Amino acid sequence: MSGIIGYIGDRPVIPVLIDGLKRLEYHGYDSAGLAVIVRDSVFYQKTPGRIHNLEERINSHNHAGEIHGGGYGIGHTRWATHGKPTEENAHPHCDCTNNLFVVHNGLLENFRKLKKNLSAAGHVFRTETDTEVIAHLLEKYLAQLGALEQAVIRTAQDLTGQFTFAVICRQDREKIVAIRSGPPLMVGLGEKEYFLASHGPAILPFTTTVIPMADGEVAIISKDSVSLTGLDGQPRAPKIEQLSPDGTASERGGFRHYMLKEIFEQPQAVRDTTLGRVEHASGRVAFEELEISSAELKCIKKINIIGCGTSLHAALYGKYVLEALARIPVEVDFASEFRYRNPIIGSDTLTIMISQSGETADTLLAAREAKKRNSKLLAISNVLASTLIRESHGVICTRSGLERAVASTKAFTSQLTVLMLLSLYLAQIQDRIFWDNSSAYLEKIEDLPSKLEQLIGRRAEVLTIAQELADFRGFLFLGRGPHFPLALEGALKLKEVSYLHAEAYAAGEIKHGPLAIIDPSMATVVMATHDLSDSNSMILYDKMLSSIHEVKSRDGQVVALATDGDREVPKIADHTIFIPKTLNLLAPILEALPLQLLSYYLADIRGCSIDQPRNLAKNVTTG
Ligand code: G6P
Repeated sequence: MSGIIGYIGDRPVIPVLIDGLKRLEYHGYDSAGLAVIVRDSVFYQKTPGRIHNLEERINSHNHAGEIHGGGYGIGHTRWATHGKPTEENAHPHCDCTNNLFVVHNGLLENFRKLKKNLSAAGHVFRTETDTEVIAHLLEKYLAQLGALEQAVIRTAQDLTGQFTFAVICRQDREKIVAIRSGPPLMVGLGEKEYFLASHGPAILPFTTTVIPMADGEVAIISKDSVSLTGLDGQPRAPKIEQLSPDGTASERGGFRHYMLKEIFEQPQAVRDTTLGRVEHASGRVAFEELEISSAELKCIKKINIIGCGTSLHAALYGKYVLEALARIPVEVDFASEFRYRNPIIGSDTLTIMISQSGETADTLLAAREAKKRNSKLLAISNVLASTLIRESHGVICTRSGLERAVASTKAFTSQLTVLMLLSLYLAQIQDRIFWDNSSAYLEKIEDLPSKLEQLIGRRAEVLTIAQELADFRGFLFLGRGPHFPLALEGALKLKEVSYLHAEAYAAGEIKHGPLAIIDPSMATVVMATHDLSDSNSMILYDKMLSSIHEVKSRDGQVVALATDGDREVPKIADHTIFIPKTLNLLAPILEALPLQLLSYYLADIRGCSIDQPRNLAKNVTTG
């Protein structure tokens, strides 16, 4: 969840590192630092807080002479895991003699034991971090082996946990050595210059040609060449890939926040996610890249869906649609729970991993657990070059483009879209529904982008509601059936960006406790859409009307999401947000957008840090 950047070449090195760090800031932003070697000088600086603090500190030192005219260096933006976000604990970390400088993403499991042994051998520790043991181990092994890359390989043998790191050194000059074990890392290729980055956007202005490093690979980068080895020291052939030319998406355009921009990008994201996957002539769904055969999918008896955060809420929506359409039993798990509950799965179980980034540590570790138990792994991710995708048997890409705001929006609606298409696909493969029915769904799926556009056009109504609710004490989100995951997601979004207290319940549960918190200072947001063509939806709709009455009779304020044309809900709710008509199972894809807007506007009114909320990170790459 932190960010690594590195550069070696003829450009002034510090501006390249600072620029990369700014682009990485959404991976972690509680402290930052860099270490640079230019000719005989070493420049080393760390600060707590955002990258601009580091930049100001560097500018105030006025090291123009040292920092221009080539050189090489590494930088890091941190999200604290071990030790507070202080200047000492910021990366890079040094050995005893300030000879080596290390930046690290991941979490070392055995660092306490290593620290004890190294301290006993005379090494002096200056920070509370796990990373510092890497610097001291490198010091120890560099003294024995002489070459930095050999010291890195030997150090890796002592480490357990996740340790992607990069190191530069005064003694063994003119190279950056990096290793990937866990969190992602790639080498960017330029003309007589090389870059190192944990995430592509950091180096996008300089190059789109990269070597994504595989787990257990070591890169030795000099100004003239890059070579890769395994942990056995044997050379590995580099696999060169192109970063998607997403440069435009990495800028904010005219929007004040990435979150708002990404909310507005949802019609396109859903359109792209559907593109080429719907065959009109046959009324079928097709996934070109899936790589798990129809014959294999025909034998699937059970599905597990696993994810974290927003992706977990998409997983729960997946349960409703897969069970309704494909009639396959589905279990949903938090990735962090799945690994430790000795899950009952086997070769007839399909395990679907959902992750926007494809790098969330808990999700990756859960995927490995499922794979160990012979389950087929299908990854639904937004990042094709991700670890999750590399490690899965099959993949469906969500195609939402780069998502930069920490709070996920367009990736979520794309995940829901994929799950709906997948439900139809499996229903077809397992002969579960009639073609007529399938075509009706496909038609309505293709209408979703224009309906999302309509919802964007109605945003002023959501803003007005947010203005009226800004001083409320707390928020309760209620939903039933496939709308319940949306209640969970609405509450999560609100917590993430506005820091307001919000909870979600399956609406039938409110009389078993939550009603006690209802009073005039509590707002209840209810998913009360309906679909006349779906009898189950109408039953749940009637029940939602009763829930609204229950809240109103305790003087609670109600904000309802209702279907266009509904006359009942506006009579009893204080505020109604209308959703264009669609099929019941598709309505959640539309409901997401006004819920996101409500959170966004409330956060904006309250002056919160919307794109980078306090205490959160976009990618949680430690488990
Ligand atoms: C972090 C982010 C959330 C995200 C979750 C899972 O906690 O802040 O917005 O939902 O990770 O991320 P993933 O990339 O696996 O979907």
